[in-house]
Amino acid sequence: MLKVNEVKINYLKEPMGITDSPQFSWILDSDKKNVVQCAYRLQISTMQSFDALVYDSQKVDNEESAHVFADGFLPESATKYFVRVKVLDNHGEETAYSEPAAFLSGLISNDEWKASFISAESKEDTNHSKGTYLRKELTINKKLKQATAYTTALGLYHFYVNGEKVGEDQMAPGWTSYENRLLYQTHDITSCLKEGDNALGAHIGAGWYKGAMGFQRKQSIYGKQAGFLCQIHLQYEDGSNEIVISDDSWLGCESPVVFSEIYDGEIYDANLEQNGWNLPGFNDSHWQRSEALLVDHKILVAQPGCKVKKIESLPVQKIFKTPQGDTVIDFGQNLTGWISFKVNGKSGEKVILNCFEVLDKDGNVYLDNLRTAKETLEYICNGDGKTIYEPNFTFQGFRYAKVASYPGELLAENFTAYVVHSDMEETGTFSCSNPDLNQLQHNITWGLKGNFLDVPTDCPQRDERLGWTGDAQIFCRTASYIMDTYTFFSKWLKDLSADQTPEGGVPHVIPDILNGVIDPDPHMAQEAHSATAWADAAVINPWTLYLVYGDKKIIHNQYQSMKAWIDFMTDHSVDGIWSYKQQFGDWVALDAEEGSYLGATPNELICTAYYAYSSGLFAKMAKAIGMDEDYQTYWQLHKDIVSVFKKNFFTEDGLMTAQTQTAHIVALYFDLVPEKYKEQTAKSLVALLEKENGHLVTGFVGTPYFCHALSENGYTKEAYDLLLKDDFPSWLYQIRKGATTIWEHWDGIKEDGSMWSADMNSFNHYAYGAIGDWLYRVVVGIEADEQEPGYKHFMISPHIGGGLAYAKGTFKSVYGEISVHWQRDGKTIQLEFTVPVNTTATLVLPEIDQIITDDGIKFIKNEDGYEGVVGSGDYLVTYTIL
Ligand code: BGC
Repeated sequence: MLKVNEVKINYLKEPMGITDSPQFSWILDSDKKNVVQCAYRLQISTMQSFDALVYDSQKVDNEESAHVFADGFLPESATKYFVRVKVLDNHGEETAYSEPAAFLSGLISNDEWKASFISAESKEDTNHSKGTYLRKELTINKKLKQATAYTTALGLYHFYVNGEKVGEDQMAPGWTSYENRLLYQTHDITSCLKEGDNALGAHIGAGWYKGAMGFQRKQSIYGKQAGFLCQIHLQYEDGSNEIVISDDSWLGCESPVVFSEIYDGEIYDANLEQNGWNLPGFNDSHWQRSEALLVDHKILVAQPGCKVKKIESLPVQKIFKTPQGDTVIDFGQNLTGWISFKVNGKSGEKVILNCFEVLDKDGNVYLDNLRTAKETLEYICNGDGKTIYEPNFTFQGFRYAKVASYPGELLAENFTAYVVHSDMEETGTFSCSNPDLNQLQHNITWGLKGNFLDVPTDCPQRDERLGWTGDAQIFCRTASYIMDTYTFFSKWLKDLSADQTPEGGVPHVIPDILNGVIDPDPHMAQEAHSATAWADAAVINPWTLYLVYGDKKIIHNQYQSMKAWIDFMTDHSVDGIWSYKQQFGDWVALDAEEGSYLGATPNELICTAYYAYSSGLFAKMAKAIGMDEDYQTYWQLHKDIVSVFKKNFFTEDGLMTAQTQTAHIVALYFDLVPEKYKEQTAKSLVALLEKENGHLVTGFVGTPYFCHALSENGYTKEAYDLLLKDDFPSWLYQIRKGATTIWEHWDGIKEDGSMWSADMNSFNHYAYGAIGDWLYRVVVGIEADEQEPGYKHFMISPHIGGGLAYAKGTFKSVYGEISVHWQRDGKTIQLEFTVPVNTTATLVLPEIDQIITDDGIKFIKNEDGYEGVVGSGDYLVTYTIL
């Protein structure tokens, strides 16, 4: 039976804050094979009964079940809409209407904003990172039909109606290029309000907005006073409307949060609590009028989803004493979030927890790699009995907490770690017969969880936690397999565009607080932008989203930004070779000179390789959206740069001018090798690997593509060997050392237990987790097809090896779940796979001897092995390998 299973709006299940014509997608299920959608009908209504239709597509003869627009439909502000779809397939089967999906609109025009930003802080509070409360009462006399709240803050906030927190948002409104874009949150608060007296309350903290951030811990980067904005649209049953706004009639006062910052943690004094402050009838006579702040409403942008939330919780694994006598709580997993605890102390007694990632060589607390970040939670009891506390405006990267103070008996059951990150649907899985690789997959996933907290950060623990573009670029493809990153990255890419320099340069970190905002760090160049492989996030991330989700909107949204970045490189190139002021080269590669973080591969080679790669991707994207002239221009540019690369970085004998692993990897993976030298270059890469005893010595640039460069050129065995190394340096070395996330350095903890230099030693740095991409695309073999992006058509091409008895992976594409599971018995392979309805796949089986059972697939033999094209359905094929 054909069924419409899941209708989504802009990739989300129930988005709140839609302000333009949304995109719809749905997943189809069928028990038949080779099912393709022939037609659909989509309806939008303001009533769940669908009695009041505002849009009806009628029957549309079209195969597309993702990226579907309701032509001519634009939502009205503060309105709830319901959507349903029915579908006809190529077997003549028609579905019933789907379950309705719903969305709530934002404010369609920023002119509709009437509310003022208000603050309970004064100008003297510039250097304070304390919490403040704001409150206002409101009386409702009529029957409410719909109440929609739009809220945001300069800083961070929690919003309450009648004492209850509204929504599950944490760290809202997230971090954006605040001068240009501030996200507001949309909430349906109909059921929170009642007839009679109601109270609105907001708790505000400093956050990224005015807390001390960056290498130099600069305070108030974006503004001096933390503030709040609220506008509530009330629709009554009698058809009348009312708008409630934040203005200086709201009253404010200090909260029990004495101090709270992203890096340092929080100090909370329960003696300062005011019971009932966010309930109606509270005596606020001692509170002060708030101050209205002048902020242009034009920066406001609705955040429809992908909000930061408490996603899961972990219990204590053990509590123990270190040799130095410290009491330590171990949660068993390096994570990002915070600890919540129960305590029952006398007034003035304290709980003090210092969060940290690893124990040192002797099993003692190791805080040095946090640099200046305190990561400390301090709670001062008020003697009022047992309470539960969790921090409000901070997060920590930790596995352990040192208990510096805790009144009463320390019981594991009184502590919980909350894992906090952007709310993204999990889309991909990987497992195999090798437990170390399964642990690697676990660590990659936890690196993602730990560093996708509204912004893709380098690390979550030390005084950095910045949106380093290079890290986000390297990890984008892997992340987009594990989770649905579309909303997350498309939001961040808008900040990237907003923060680009007028010439198109791309800052090292997004949101940019290094380039011209803070005086640069002494070891940062004067202009903290436009480093190759970092700045290329401007092009590579949109390309990755296009490839994985098949969505051209990302190309439209980022088009000018991408073009500006390519033009920037062109403006600064000489004869096709480009480089710019500060480069990070093959960052932290092991072939670096003593004392340097920059690997041995010359900047000009890496810069020009990326210039070629990005210009090629941009040209393809221009073509995809019909920008033919740009396609011609930039494809020509790409070809020219490729020629320059071939001419300059290969000798007449076809050797690369730089005899480094990374030089060979980028040349091979970016297709920059003269055809006649391809084999030789791949061979040289293998030789360079052998020279290091089969170990990589690559950094951020070479590592992500190392295994691809090998397996794409006939060296799958060598790629597996590299993957499975478990002595330093290797992915599995850290697993041997007990890692639960991916480390920044191959030898973050050395063989003898001592640490890499404390000044840069994160144990939760997702960059090297980019190896995940090879596990999914090559080991399992689920590969996108750029001709039909979004896995409308894809390849299934598992590469058997590494001594694995089986490997399996699933990936939930926009069309549904793809799954591949291979099992090996000697030379015989049993391959089970699923192709979602409304998609097709090409099976490409390399290094194959013969097909034993073909499940009806017509195979043809070619130089890549055996190939067969299949429609949707479940398949089982058996074959033998050479
Ligand atoms: C970060 C890296 C980043 C690098 C660039 C480091 O401090 O943690 O991941 O890409 O700086 O130089």
